[in-house]
Amino acid sequence: MRRVVRFWLGDEPRDVAGAAPTTTLLDWLRGVEGRTGTKEGCNEGDCGACTVLLTRLRDGRVVHEPVCACIRLLATVDGCRVATVEDLAAADGTLHPVQRAMVEQHASQCGFCTPGIVTSLWALRLDHPEPPDEAEIEARLAGNLCRCTGYGPIVRAARAMYALEPAPAVDPLLAAAELWHTRLAERDTAEPLLLDGPDGTRLVAPVRLEELSDLLAARPDALLLAGGTDVGLRITKDLDRPPLIVWLGRVAELHRLEETAEGLRIGAAVTWREAASALRRLAPGLGELVDRFAGEQIRATATVVGNLANASPVGDGAPAFLALDARLELRRGDRRRELPLAEFFRAYRRTALEPGEFVEAVFLPRPSAGTRLLFEKVSKRREQDIATVSAGIALAIEDGRVRHVRLAFGGMAAIPARARAAEAALEGAAWDEAALERAVAALDRDFEPISDHRGSAAYRRTVAANLLWRAWLESRGVPVRLHAAEPALG
Ligand SMILES: Cc1cc2nc3c(=O)[nH]c(=O)nc-3n(C[C@H](O)[C@H](O)[C@H](O)COP(=O)(O)OP(=O)(O)OC[C@H]3O[C@@H](n4cnc5c(N)ncnc54)[C@H](O)[C@@H]3O)c2cc1C
Ligand code: FES
Ligand code: FES
Repeated sequence: MRRVVRFWLGDEPRDVAGAAPTTTLLDWLRGVEGRTGTKEGCNEGDCGACTVLLTRLRDGRVVHEPVCACIRLLATVDGCRVATVEDLAAADGTLHPVQRAMVEQHASQCGFCTPGIVTSLWALRLDHPEPPDEAEIEARLAGNLCRCTGYGPIVRAARAMYALEPAPAVDPLLAAAELWHTRLAERDTAEPLLLDGPDGTRLVAPVRLEELSDLLAARPDALLLAGGTDVGLRITKDLDRPPLIVWLGRVAELHRLEETAEGLRIGAAVTWREAASALRRLAPGLGELVDRFAGEQIRATATVVGNLANASPVGDGAPAFLALDARLELRRGDRRRELPLAEFFRAYRRTALEPGEFVEAVFLPRPSAGTRLLFEKVSKRREQDIATVSAGIALAIEDGRVRHVRLAFGGMAAIPARARAAEAALEGAAWDEAALERAVAALDRDFEPISDHRGSAAYRRTVAANLLWRAWLESRGVPVRLHAAEPALG
């Protein structure tokens, strides 16, 4: 077992020994390395002030991702390169084009949020050799809050940086992909990682799937860590110090994303960012799910499976995946079993997982021809917000009748669930207003929502009913959304 975390910081290799497993990347950067350009704002992944650039190998390619250092455990940058805002300017002080554009467009006011914004723009620049459109720029900045609302100049800077072509000397990442390929491969050892902290915590990162499943079966009390966007908050906000954390991110099999004629299989370590294109290909309606999920930094860190496993009643993935009849592949030791997602959620934050069992992958069957999937999310803010009510709606209309229907909702009960009475009201019925009215009335039998700070029970009921009406209107070609996408149904 290896007891040091091995990665690159900027241009220097690092072997970090003795760090507590619960040490965050942000605390280590600022407290140990003195890289104080990376700021701490919210300490919960929301504001983007702590954004750093992570470079890693994915399927043999070098990829660059903006991530929030505040909820990212240091151990999980093992094998990567971490770059902070300090890595942008050249050694002689020449500013990087992203920095110059920010200065020239007067895009920094308080300055506190600026390093995070600069780093997000840097990641955008690396991803997009050609200037992206305004929507893409806005999407890539959604995870960076500028509290003085100076977004206009920031967006202008994002466009202006493309006019300031980076010379290879000032952007080593663009110029030296091969070099980074070699450097990252060197740091990427096949040895499991084990860290023991002075606070009594232990983190183990197995490399083989069997090691992971045997360990979890032997230690059902372990806390399984995937992307850590929920677990990280437990550590930074609740000050939780779990005795044993098992990180699945080093198991190669769990990073697999398999697209076949039957559907899409997403391994437990695949992030939303990695799955985004395949999800859109599977069902264009899933584009709304990917676009509305958090901001880029969280999408680059959070796993799709973690979003189901946390069993949140307002998680975005569950309603859409329930509507697709998703199945989970569960594993305990060497025993595997498959479970429909609809049978996974048992009670508030409780699942059908047995002690020591974990989710190896989620499988989304390809919708049959003529079936269309809609994902709807109603939240207070469009970007970077948790849903008040969300819906996954799968519909196939043939000759004016409902051939196939699945209606699943989040935020309407203690668990994400299908609206079976409303489905029954529609199945086989003529696709008309009378059927819709019956389905809307049936929703009251399906759900007894609660009132909380996000919305009252009455509000949730109204929203759920309106989402059904919206699906109906949309199927008639009525333009009902700002970000319209698809042709009419049926
Ligand atoms: C700023 C911010 C914005 C967010 N925005 C959204 C949003 O818009 N929509 C949304 O739905 N969620 C959102 N979330 C919540 C969170 O990002 C997602 O639920 C995420 O997908 C969780 O995945 P993860 O890999 O980070 O899970 P982790 O934090 O690693 O794990 C979450 C839980 O699931 C368990 N777990 C993880 N993987 C497995 C597995 N394979 N088998 C069994 N158990 C497992 C863990 O033990 C833990 O209890 C947001 C979070 C933050 C911090
Ligand atoms: S400090 Fe706000 S996202 Fe990390
Ligand atoms: S420039 Fe920092 S909050 Fe706007």
